[in-house]
Amino acid sequence: MLRLCAPDEVAEGRSRGFEIAGEKLFAVRKDGQLYAYRNRCPHRGIPLEWLPDQFLDHSSSMIQCATHGALFLIESGECVAGPCAGQSLQILAVREDDQGIWVDLNDA
Ligand code: FES
Repeated sequence: MLRLCAPDEVAEGRSRGFEIAGEKLFAVRKDGQLYAYRNRCPHRGIPLEWLPDQFLDHSSSMIQCATHGALFLIESGECVAGPCAGQSLQILAVREDDQGIWVDLNDA
């Protein structure tokens, strides 16, 4: 597992982008639960965000791709609207303890 950041660096209802070991990824916290995905839209294979750390829609209830507006469920990464509907973001195993937030880039 690779350490992303301290536990409090991904706040409730917020997202944050990372680049680690040459991989772009992002994490979201919803209802206390953390989720991590590769930062790669299944539509065009490009990063989702235009602004740093902005991966959510205006209501913070979905992940949104800034390029064509695809919407993804925070809990599963499934695209439910937009040009790649039915496809999914690649989810990563994530773990949190006193030391930080950890992801496994090999486990998808
Ligand atoms: S690149 Fe993400 S919706 Fe088109």
